[in-house]
Amino acid sequence: MELKISIVTCSDTRDLAQDEAGAALEELIEAQGWTVVSHVVVRDDASEIGDAIVEAADECHANVVLTCGGTGLSMRDVTPEATRAVCDRDVPGIAEAIRAYSMTKTRRAMLSRAICMQRGHTLVVNFPGSTKAARESWEAIADQLEHAAQMTA
Ligand code: MTE
Repeated sequence: MELKISIVTCSDTRDLAQDEAGAALEELIEAQGWTVVSHVVVRDDASEIGDAIVEAADECHANVVLTCGGTGLSMRDVTPEATRAVCDRDVPGIAEAIRAYSMTKTRRAMLSRAICMQRGHTLVVNFPGSTKAARESWEAIADQLEHAAQMTA
């Protein structure tokens, strides 16, 4: 299955040209032979993030939406809440796998509140926002994404 993946970077400080983590994810996705169907940067604002997830899922028909950033403990970090507001079902194992793998890289991984959920036939996965964290989160789940997307489709 050739996955269609959307990237939604959530950041008050980055624009698309400065989105190094999103660019790294694009490279990793394309290296698998999969397609990046959209890549946007939105503010750390729950309605902007929710709208971007809905557009990626419903208009771009992404199999997987990767959000990047806004999963930490500061009051501006609202990506998990924004994800929950527009999704249907929890997929806790994927978020657990990301955190478990990430804990082997840095104990700060416990500070990410990232979640994974399904919106209809789209899987939505939160990644933390640094380039390093985004790469490591991808490494944690890339081998299972195709099967997860097939089951969601
Ligand atoms: N996960 C991995 N794999 N690698 C990292 O470097 N950084 C952590 C954590 N998860 C990190 C990680 C840190 S320092 C924070 S604050 C949280 O992710 C939340 O990051 P975010 O607010 O950018 O989403």
